[in-house]
Amino acid sequence: MSAWITEWYAWIRALHIISVMAWMAGMLYLPRLFVYHASAVPGSELSETLKVMERRLLRAIINPAMMAAFVFGGLMLVVQDWTQHWLHVKLALVIAMSALHGFFARWRKDFADDRNRRPPNFYRIANEIPTVLLVAIVILAVVKPF
Ligand code: HEM
Repeated sequence: MSAWITEWYAWIRALHIISVMAWMAGMLYLPRLFVYHASAVPGSELSETLKVMERRLLRAIINPAMMAAFVFGGLMLVVQDWTQHWLHVKLALVIAMSALHGFFARWRKDFADDRNRRPPNFYRIANEIPTVLLVAIVILAVVKPF
């Protein structure tokens, strides 16, 4: 197994970066839709359109991209030196990003059921969290500062 991973490592890393980019594009876009949805009247044409956009974004892009990021990242983990501290901190931040993904999925369900009670500003702040996490994760993965 590890001989195969080592042979195809560059391809696996490239596919990891591609899937991470798709995952992050969705994680940055979905809360932006929530900002507009939080000020839309439940049952209105705008609210119903945003429900379709949010459901398709989550199910067709964010969820599969996250799974692909874990598969290709996981393959690379098999041949990693686990004593590296950057990897420990990176994986902790990836767990935080995955937890945030879970909250986004729950908030999408609240909007779909016209049960959202949070104001637009709540989602404006939520929109910043994946940005901060991705900056830290990419610096750790590329610079490996410790
Ligand atoms: C989903 C779980 C993840 C796992 C298990 C994982 C694991 C890994 C591993 C083992 C490497 C190889 C490091 C190397 O060979 O130098 C790597 C590279 C990388 N990861 Fe992840 N990662 C995950 C998620 C993410 C996320 C969420 C991001 C960005 C937001 C990210 C960004 C990167 C980048 C940019 C590289 C390439 C580093 C380079 O080529 O120098 N990863 N990842």
